[in-house]
Amino acid sequence: MSDCDLAFAGVDEARLASLARALAALVRDGGVIHLVGSLGAGKTTFARALLGALGVGARVKSPTYSLVESYAIGDLAAHHLDLYRIAAAEEVEWLGLRDLAAGRQLWLIEWPERALAAIPAPDLVIELAHAPSARDVCLRALTVTAKRWLESLRGLPIQHELSRS
Ligand SMILES: Nc1ncnc2c1ncn2[C@@H]1O[C@H](COP(=O)(O)OP(=O)(O)O)[C@@H](O)[C@H]1O
Ligand SMILES: [Mg+2]
Repeated sequence: MSDCDLAFAGVDEARLASLARALAALVRDGGVIHLVGSLGAGKTTFARALLGALGVGARVKSPTYSLVESYAIGDLAAHHLDLYRIAAAEEVEWLGLRDLAAGRQLWLIEWPERALAAIPAPDLVIELAHAPSARDVCLRALTVTAKRWLESLRGLPIQHELSRS
């Protein structure tokens, strides 16, 4: 966990969900978030909380088997991907991601490293790592858009709430 633009240690599940909800408010215009971390690190937990906060509600399924679940949130199209079962970028071609990429898009991609060549490049990379009964969270902003998101996060009460943990 180095080179983080923003990092939190020992984040419990409730606080991880709070962070996801805070970020949700910032990504309503769309963007690409890669969720990196081992099995059970909390990628789906994070995506679910974020999509829930955007108004998707109880319908957020893990895309473990379907690979992609898409949601219409007003005129924002949210695509939640889990590429765990993908071995090579070419296997992602049949998902037809390019056809999905019209209008305002929000991408939440678990296991992006499985198919980097076939998916949208990230604005933000969130890395989750197991810590005793909690998670360490590292956020890296790769675009001006994501730098703005993190600037906004730094100004929110959640920043202090997470730093206390
Ligand atoms: N701080 C935490 N953040 C996220 N999940 C946590 C945390 N502590 C415990 N958990 C549990 O760990 C599991 C994470 O699973 P999941 O989000 O599906 O991981 P992934 O999608 O990365 O494989 C869930 O059962 C969740 O309840
Ligand atoms: Mg998952």
